[in-house]
Amino acid sequence: MKNVLYLCIFSCIASGLPLSDATAKTADGRAIFDRSCSLCHSINPPPKSAPPVVPLANRYHMKFQTKEQGVAYMAAFLKKPDRNKAVDPQAVSRFGLMPTLPLTDAERKAVAAWFWDQYNPEMGGGRGIGGGQRRLMNR
Ligand code: HEC
Repeated sequence: MKNVLYLCIFSCIASGLPLSDATAKTADGRAIFDRSCSLCHSINPPPKSAPPVVPLANRYHMKFQTKEQGVAYMAAFLKKPDRNKAVDPQAVSRFGLMPTLPLTDAERKAVAAWFWDQYNPEMGGGRGIGGGQRRLMNR
């Protein structure tokens, strides 16, 4: 019986190995989000006590050319939130500054990578959503 257990543990570990780095990070990122972020951040509007993930991710995509840059910026923000560095300064006035969370550097990077991937170009970047459509309708 014990051997079966060992075999099982071993095969679980072994089967985890071929996972590419990126896949592993995405999975971790989501778990970290559920644990440490979802209390304040919903994925889609309406907001809880912070801007929802998708519009924030869209802002990051507008501001940064590459995932690498966006993730680095977000990880630095998570480490030390700074109102002068917020991608959406109005969110700080509306919700207050985000608190620093007790995460490791690796966790901050993993959750930032997951966050970046939540980008949805059809949703816009928060305020100003639908502005273009309204203009069209008023024609
Ligand atoms: C206690 C509530 C709270 C928790 C928990 C929280 N946040 Fe936030 N977060 C906020 C608020 C409020 C803002 C908006 C004001 C600001 O930008 O600081 C924000 C803003 C952000 C931003 C925008 C930063 C920028 O560059 O402007 C990101 C990205 C973010 N949060 C990610 C996360 C992640 C990832 C987690 C989990 C690891 C998390 N938040 C957990 C409250 C929270």
